[in-house]
Amino acid sequence: MSEELLVRKIRDGTVIDHIPAGRALDVLKILGLSGKEGSTIAIVMNVPSKKLGRKDIVKVEGKFLEPKEVDEIALIAPTATINIVKDFRVLEKRRVQVPGEIKGLLRCPNPNCVTNTKREPIERRFKLVSIAPLKLKCYYCEDIVTEEQVIQQLVRE
Ligand code: CTP
Ligand code: ZN
Repeated sequence: MSEELLVRKIRDGTVIDHIPAGRALDVLKILGLSGKEGSTIAIVMNVPSKKLGRKDIVKVEGKFLEPKEVDEIALIAPTATINIVKDFRVLEKRRVQVPGEIKGLLRCPNPNCVTNTKREPIERRFKLVSIAPLKLKCYYCEDIVTEEQVIQQLVRE
């Protein structure tokens, strides 16, 4: 069944498409949306997709994403496309991109890492090691941050 039969098109806002199946609520969490804000939100989960088998879609009327939000979505939904809709038309469509270097978004899981022990703040930096499964390496102590830890930090804390 086409997604169009489930949810109508939006007028102005953002459609986050091609989200890995089951991750739509995590994307909403990253966007800080609980539904209590009053904006119209559509969540479509586990619909068939040619590219992904199954996918989720999140549509938010009246919302346009910040670069930080796009980077965080890239980490938990690397296949996502961000569609900017104005007056019912897709004005811009882009694939999210997992940055080769992630700065500031995540904490190092190693309690002895200099980024966790120094009183003066040190900018946290991670190098991308692999996308699927997601693995990031701390620039300072070389500890690996896994996908599960990234989801934990970005979505559940
Ligand atoms: N969409 C929407 N409201 C609009 C325009 C588009 O909700 N006014 C949604 C579509 O339903 C789709 C996504 O935004 O989920 C992208 O739209 P479009 O580019 O028209 O669809 P496709 O060509 O199928 O996208 P892709 O090639 O990225 O799979
Ligand atoms: Zn570290």
